[in-house]
Amino acid sequence: MTTATKTYTAAVIGVGKAGGGGPKGGGHAIGYVHAGTFKANPRVKLAAGADINAENLRAYRERFGVPLGFEDYRALLKDLKPDLVSIGTYVGLHRRIIEDAARAGVKGILCEKPFLNAPADLDAVERVAAETGAKIVVGHMRRYRPAFERARDLYNDGTVGKPLMCLGGIEGWDLSEWGSHWLDIFRFFNKDRAVNWIMGQARVRGFRGYGHAMEEHAVAYFEFEGGAKAILDGGKAVGQGLTLLGAEGVIRVRDEAIVTVENGSGRAIEDFSSHPRHNAIWPKVLEELIDWIEGGPIPRVGHPSMLKTCELNLAAYLSALKGDRIDLPLSGELRAYDEWPVEALARRTS
Ligand SMILES: NC(=O)c1ccc[n+]([C@@H]2O[C@H](COP(=O)([O-])OP(=O)(O)OC[C@H]3O[C@@H](n4cnc5c(N)ncnc54)[C@H](O)[C@@H]3O)[C@@H](O)[C@H]2O)c1
Repeated sequence: MTTATKTYTAAVIGVGKAGGGGPKGGGHAIGYVHAGTFKANPRVKLAAGADINAENLRAYRERFGVPLGFEDYRALLKDLKPDLVSIGTYVGLHRRIIEDAARAGVKGILCEKPFLNAPADLDAVERVAAETGAKIVVGHMRRYRPAFERARDLYNDGTVGKPLMCLGGIEGWDLSEWGSHWLDIFRFFNKDRAVNWIMGQARVRGFRGYGHAMEEHAVAYFEFEGGAKAILDGGKAVGQGLTLLGAEGVIRVRDEAIVTVENGSGRAIEDFSSHPRHNAIWPKVLEELIDWIEGGPIPRVGHPSMLKTCELNLAAYLSALKGDRIDLPLSGELRAYDEWPVEALARRTS
């Protein structure tokens, strides 16, 4: 239960490109969404930001009226000792920042997706969270969108018969920077059941974005416990929005807001367009993070579940790399693998 007395000191690490915007590859300044979220919560005091880029740091401090700025986030952790931090840097830095923050006494971390860079990071982050008690939430806010909640309920309550397959694609995007949202939503649609195995294939050429190699086109095909499958086509659209196939019907979710069901009873449409878009969900997640710190339940984007989404995401690339089906959970040398796997795929074709 939340005790309404305590206030929390917060900071953003990796504040985002001044001016924001830009093509695929970075510069969307998600740190501004984090900062706005902290500012809007009466129990939180946004006190600082850290960024290696002086211009980005200056623009952020001006925009949000933030008193303290640090070039080195470790100095921020040491001098400010914040209760909460958000991480808006690219994936390659997440593990190190999480470990440093947790060991410096940070109680709650809002971390951007993709969550972690390599399979070896999964156990490391789980370990530091267990040792320090730090709580981490990840930016897969789409789990809270009412259209997806409705689709999940319909997929599991018999409306379309036995769940068979979730399908989706993302024109021009990848399996991680964008696709991780859909991998996470497919887990959500399947009530976070364990994934048995995954097959992945990827075309990787020279493109780099968000500080790492990015594929041109990749596909992930996987099976949940119980037998339902999912396919994500990163790079090519698959119809409009997401499709959930059941043995006796089909559910479609378009624009993350319009849910259409077709089954033996006909066709029904529900429109959730008037509900908040995913960035407006951050304030709710911050409340849930604070509640979790104070002994409340784990948010649906809390790290125990988000580590599973991340494992699935990385395993798709490992499958492409090994040319083999990957069984989950990752074990042995695959679990110890310590590089963003798309780098290895890029080296293969360079
Ligand atoms: N949840 C969402 O819907 C959503 C939306 C947009 C972006 N993102 C994710 O957010 C992440 C950031 O993307 P962006 O486009 O906002 O990035 P950005 O380029 O706008 O900002 C990244 C910032 O990190 C800073 N930085 C780099 N190294 C640093 C270090 N060592 N210490 C401190 N700061 C450092 C950079 O200078 C920059 O200001 C990506 O992983 C992206 O996928 C998520």
